[in-house]
Amino acid sequence: MKVNNIKTKENKKSELKEKKRESPTRLINGELQNGEKNFDNSLRPRILDEYIGQCNMKENLRIFIQAAKMRGETLDHVLLNGPPGLGKTTLAFCIANEMGVGIKATSGPAIERQIDLLVLLKNLKEGDILFIDEIHRLSKVVEEILYPAMEDFVFDRILGKGTRAKARRVPLPRFTLIGATTRGGLISSPLRGRFGINFNLNFYDETDLSHIAKRSAGILSCEMEDEGAMEIARRARGTPRIANRLLRRVRDFAQVKGDGTINKEIGCLALERMGIDENGLDEIDRRILECLVIRFMGNPVGIETLSAYVQEESQNIEEIYEPYLLSRGFISKTPRGRIAAPEAFKYFGKELPDKPSRSTFWD
Ligand SMILES: Nc1ncnc2c1ncn2[C@@H]1O[C@H](COP(=O)(O)OP(=O)(O)O)[C@@H](O)[C@H]1O
Ligand SMILES: [Mg+2]
Repeated sequence: MKVNNIKTKENKKSELKEKKRESPTRLINGELQNGEKNFDNSLRPRILDEYIGQCNMKENLRIFIQAAKMRGETLDHVLLNGPPGLGKTTLAFCIANEMGVGIKATSGPAIERQIDLLVLLKNLKEGDILFIDEIHRLSKVVEEILYPAMEDFVFDRILGKGTRAKARRVPLPRFTLIGATTRGGLISSPLRGRFGINFNLNFYDETDLSHIAKRSAGILSCEMEDEGAMEIARRARGTPRIANRLLRRVRDFAQVKGDGTINKEIGCLALERMGIDENGLDEIDRRILECLVIRFMGNPVGIETLSAYVQEESQNIEEIYEPYLLSRGFISKTPRGRIAAPEAFKYFGKELPDKPSRSTFWD
């Protein structure tokens, strides 16, 4: 399509910036890695019954879907917020299947100009879903034209320029927009306000993750004992995509070092060999904690200082590493920086220091 080839200066700049901060290839990183797409797709649940965990959200969603179907209406627009790998894309496709409608998927940075959005919307059938991944990366001009589309199912097209410019309203099919974001805080309030349904996905508990690992092992025709599934679950950082990725590697160990069955011993052996401890922490996490516990002894540390010590980009620390450390209570965030929580001292077998010079969790 010709329209997609012209890149605005703004988009080129943001693309370069994104490239520069591409997340490192790390076994326990929730983002999709190169060569993983087909594997990832083959394990995706297709309907809500297959979607494990997130029970509250799922139950509410079932009601909203049933109500919309009973009224013969489209589902309200849905915003899904949560760290990478928790199942946002999967859920969007499950919703489409449950509603019995078509779905077109795109992403914020791929919609460069207003006309690109118009083409996408015009090609939807009545009731279809438009899924916009990374919706926080939509440009301002595209975001603004999305408002009337979401609210009134019209597209306000400006034809011509300057004094001869004319506005033309193009009617659109009724559709449901599902937006996914890993950075909920970056969504403007006018955009957020236009989503009738707003879900935050939480990290999964170990039981749910062990069910996910078992389900995936079944699809891959791989024998797995409950305890083997638990070893994977414990180290998957609350993230289904990581559980599946670990499963793939543990399966290799089971095949070569065992009889093909994933049991507790094989699970432990494989994950230890890959440098992932029983808390799901790898070397970078340990470097972060070590800096906060041993080097700074529980004092607050600014993100740039932490980044220099750990030798990781500050944005990667904020988006990839620290959400899980925060959720597990290893670190806390204060206005003066990150601090090690008592759990992190315990991890290193260290006593809590006396009240540090600058206040921390003792406050
Ligand atoms: N609730 C779930 N139950 C089972 N598998 C899941 C679930 N959520 C995610 N997955 C698995 O994790 C992978 C990553 O999910 P995805 O929807 O792509 O995450 P996100 O879009 O949030 O980054 C999928 O391939 C899917 O197999
Ligand atoms: Mg996704």
